[in-house]
Amino acid sequence: MTGTEFVAQLIAENEELLARIDAPAESRPSERSDPQSFDTLATLMKMALKNEMEAAEIAAEWVATTPELDAKVALACHAGDEARHYELVEAQARSMAIQLDGFHPLDPPSPVLSYLRTLNSTVERVAAALVAREAMGGRRNAQFLAFLEQAGHGELAAVYREVINPDEDRHHRNGCALLARLATTAAAQEAARRAARGLLETGDRVRTAALRQTGASVIPGC
Ligand SMILES: [Fe+2]
Ligand SMILES: [Fe+2]
Repeated sequence: MTGTEFVAQLIAENEELLARIDAPAESRPSERSDPQSFDTLATLMKMALKNEMEAAEIAAEWVATTPELDAKVALACHAGDEARHYELVEAQARSMAIQLDGFHPLDPPSPVLSYLRTLNSTVERVAAALVAREAMGGRRNAQFLAFLEQAGHGELAAVYREVINPDEDRHHRNGCALLARLATTAAAQEAARRAARGLLETGDRVRTAALRQTGASVIPGC
């Protein structure tokens, strides 16, 4: 199978899995949390900040240990984009008077960041962080955007609609093109598939726990 054929197959497999595991949940308001409340929005925005910072962090960590020049450049650009997303969401959080003192987005690392740190080859990294994670993040951010529009958070919604969501789509597409060039052997394709699957399963566990904790029907991606 060529790299291009493999990536088309991998995208279809990922989409099939995501359609099953990543649909918006029933919102389940508990005594502690109301999905439409300020506290819930603050929790979701901190989750968004954590995701963006972790995406920037892992891409930056990998720049120095990725020998392929095209992948190195893609990761460096990716780190910059995700850091920019962090800045944009942080500015919105501050303008909404969401308290960020003592907020440490990388402490502790999420299971997704810990999983990504176990990946040592470029095909695994690109398959997990760019192809799979950006597909998952794009899907979650589309759901988060709809939630923000419905809840009347117009300025934050505009940031997602105009900057973050188009960037995540581009990250995914660039990752797919890169993986098609890199994953040209059966062994590389198998490693890429395993890494993508591992990322999506880890992301699903994180989402399930977050939905339970917040009572919200959606969570932001990265
Ligand atoms: Fe992204
Ligand atoms: Fe992002």
